[in-house]
Amino acid sequence: MADWSDFIQQIKRNNDIVDVIGSYLELRRSGANFMARCPFHGEKTPSFNVNRSLQIYKCFGCGESGDVIKFVEKYESCSFVEACEILAKRAGIPMPETSVNRDDKEYRERKAKRDVYLAICKDTAKFYWRVYRSEKGQLARRYMQGRGFDDVTVNKFGIGYSPDGFSLPKYLASVGYSMADCVKCGVLQKGRQGETDALSGRLIVPIFNMQGQVIAFGGRGMDEYTIAHGKYKNTSETPLFIKKDNLFAVNIAKEQKQQSALPHLVVVEGYMDVIAMYQAGFKGAVASMGTSLTEQQAKWLSRLSDTVYICYDGDAAGQKATVRGLDILDRAGLEVRVMTVPEKLDPDEYIKKYGAEAFDKLIDDAMPLPDYKLKLLENAFPINSSDPAQRNNALPKYVKGAITMLKSLDDVRQARYITAVSLTTGYSEDYFRRKLTEENETELPNITGDELTQEDKAKYFVAACVLHGEDYASVEDKPLCNSAFLSSLYDYLLDCKSKGAKPSVDMLYTVCPNASEEQYSYIIDVDLSKAKREVNKRYFEECKRLVTVEKFKLRRDELLKKLKKDPSDGDLLNELAELSKKITDIR
Ligand code: CTP
Ligand code: MN
Repeated sequence: MADWSDFIQQIKRNNDIVDVIGSYLELRRSGANFMARCPFHGEKTPSFNVNRSLQIYKCFGCGESGDVIKFVEKYESCSFVEACEILAKRAGIPMPETSVNRDDKEYRERKAKRDVYLAICKDTAKFYWRVYRSEKGQLARRYMQGRGFDDVTVNKFGIGYSPDGFSLPKYLASVGYSMADCVKCGVLQKGRQGETDALSGRLIVPIFNMQGQVIAFGGRGMDEYTIAHGKYKNTSETPLFIKKDNLFAVNIAKEQKQQSALPHLVVVEGYMDVIAMYQAGFKGAVASMGTSLTEQQAKWLSRLSDTVYICYDGDAAGQKATVRGLDILDRAGLEVRVMTVPEKLDPDEYIKKYGAEAFDKLIDDAMPLPDYKLKLLENAFPINSSDPAQRNNALPKYVKGAITMLKSLDDVRQARYITAVSLTTGYSEDYFRRKLTEENETELPNITGDELTQEDKAKYFVAACVLHGEDYASVEDKPLCNSAFLSSLYDYLLDCKSKGAKPSVDMLYTVCPNASEEQYSYIIDVDLSKAKREVNKRYFEECKRLVTVEKFKLRRDELLKKLKKDPSDGDLLNELAELSKKITDIR
């Protein structure tokens, strides 16, 4: 643990934020700072500010802020550790030992194997690519042309063709790969006649990971005989590829996001849907490859955007497994909207039949997840049926389902949908509210921090002054913290104090990761300019007093409670007297 915080300091010292961001974006000097067009939201005039002395960035347009590690994390759509890895590599610093011991023989072997598998997949993709574009690839090229795909699109997705069962193994052996490794990473399969191409005779769609490496392939049959063994056949599960946890085309969505922030993603089912959408100008599409969504996939999605449109084939969209998948996205904090494609068409077919503009309209008409669930409920329980008997029979079931749906919502949305559901059912809003609290009593309340108390404001201000190294500011002990953010921040400040180290503003993003923009802004947007120094100094004292009084008062309440049980306890009485004096003194 100590290792890691040293390591983080080290990579930060050796990766100046201006240099790092400058290697991704075009930065223009503006006074002491640098400006760029924000990569995290679409904009024409630059409002993205990089501050060299504080080593942080902040966009005044969308509010996003962070340190150098957070920038890489967001820009590369990768995890914190991966961002550290990228920066460590950039500065030539070795990664520290983690719980996985890097000297461990097994770990090193696994890493080496992974590199071999990636190399095999890459060479296999190149092989398929070449065949597609050769004499032998005519059938596949005609197939793609027949479906209306142009060369730009075909090349963008790296489409290839597997000519037969034996050419690929022959080629891979000639490069020097062991047949066993080729089987392990799924490109070859072992049969009676030795190793053969696993996707023999199929059109090849390579599957890339977020880092742009080929990890697997989808193979589409193009003739009756092949299709008889499955319209699609994919690389089997391998150390590189777990189908249900991957998404097709994340590499392309990521590239799109880097060029011009992605306002939303569209999740479709099939390879061909993504490819057709790309050609029609919808470049933020990914495919779940025909399975229901998993938490891992939700993670990939949330690294790319915060709004996700789901566009599944008519019959798949209503299935239980699908709705469960949508709940997973909702719980991951994504804004989920459900599209409905008419006539049971898939996006590829719909775009071919009605064009891109019509598809755009489907995106506009997408329903927020709660509305979509209510629609499914109504399909199952027709509360608007013209047959009164059917209506009466459906109503209680609909209401029951609606309550389940309401339970999954946060407070704000709950209030809105209670009104809506009350209108459609004729049950009172109070009825729903009662039902919801009845069963929720055991759950913890949802604390949201937008309404700050005086004391909380004071805690933020004190922390901001200390973090920015104002000469009049110091902390001696931890205040009462009702948020993880304040708690970790004060731990950090006190840790610095005990080590005699100067706190550093950019560490905010390391010690308090994943906080809200609002919380970061309470700390970094405080005006600590020279002009306000005297005012701030006085306000600082005031704030510290407020925070201390709060702590004393809590202790006093505790003592009073104890005294009720044991009114003659001398120690308690003494402490209480002292405390009361302190409280009056400090005021
Ligand atoms: N799929 C699969 N294996 C199958 C069938 C389907 O892996 N045997 C996955 C593929 O990722 C496929 C997706 O599920 O793209 C959706 O299947 P489907 O709708 O049948 O295929 P389309 O993508 O529409 O392909 P096409 O237009 O070529 O028929
Ligand atoms: Mn299709």
